[in-house]
Amino acid sequence: MSDRKPIISGNWKMHNNHLEAIQLVQQLSYLITKDDAKAVDITIHPPFTDIRSVQTVVDADKIPVSLGAQHCHWEEKGAFTGEIAPAMLAKLNVSFVIAGHSERRQIFGETDEMVNNKVKAILANEMTPILACGETLEEREADEAVAKVSAQVAAGLAGVKAEQVAEMVIAYEPIWAIGTGKTASPEDAQEMCKSVRDKVRELYNDKTADAVRIQYGGSVKPGNAPELMSQPDIDGALVGGACLAADDFHRIIAFRDAG
Ligand code: 13P
Repeated sequence: MSDRKPIISGNWKMHNNHLEAIQLVQQLSYLITKDDAKAVDITIHPPFTDIRSVQTVVDADKIPVSLGAQHCHWEEKGAFTGEIAPAMLAKLNVSFVIAGHSERRQIFGETDEMVNNKVKAILANEMTPILACGETLEEREADEAVAKVSAQVAAGLAGVKAEQVAEMVIAYEPIWAIGTGKTASPEDAQEMCKSVRDKVRELYNDKTADAVRIQYGGSVKPGNAPELMSQPDIDGALVGGACLAADDFHRIIAFRDAG
């Protein structure tokens, strides 16, 4: 077991208006115990339009979750219609921002360079990036998964200092496992998360590689979370579908209680 604190993140994607968001967070607050909050860092990533409402509830009820966002722009301000600046998120007590989710890369054309700009902008605004990476099914079948993911990690971290990387989160999310009900086997997920850590070791040093937290994402459910989380290089989960039901998300947060 490593001494890295597990981090379980719920990526709501484009689900829940702000009223539904308040309900979900309140349901979650009844389930999360003090022990959960002590043992695990919990982050939730609602859509932008929900963040202010969620922040108000989290602050008022002192719910032990950190507020996250799913995306942001890298510039401070300007003519970027439809975009949100990192400082706007920081002002709402957002502390984690996902950068480079495969849906943003694939559907909205985000490049490694854009992802790297975001990582740097998130850090500059004193928030923690969750840098997402992952291979397609074709890349996996062509035995290119490690090369693809290593390249995404190297590009995403370009110009980022070792001590910043040590505080970051990297999410390995194989694209073929996202929203498909197919999960990487715990052994495959471990191997890939280890390859991410090895890449950080090669780019930086042992201290940084041993400190950075690596999540697995892709059809994480209450049933498979304990085995995934027991792998030595998996420090957390980035959860999509299963975080939309408070009970399922809580059972993932409480993975250590299973069995
Ligand atoms: P699912 O858990 O729905 O597969 O989504 C994973 C994901 O993309 C989280 O960012």
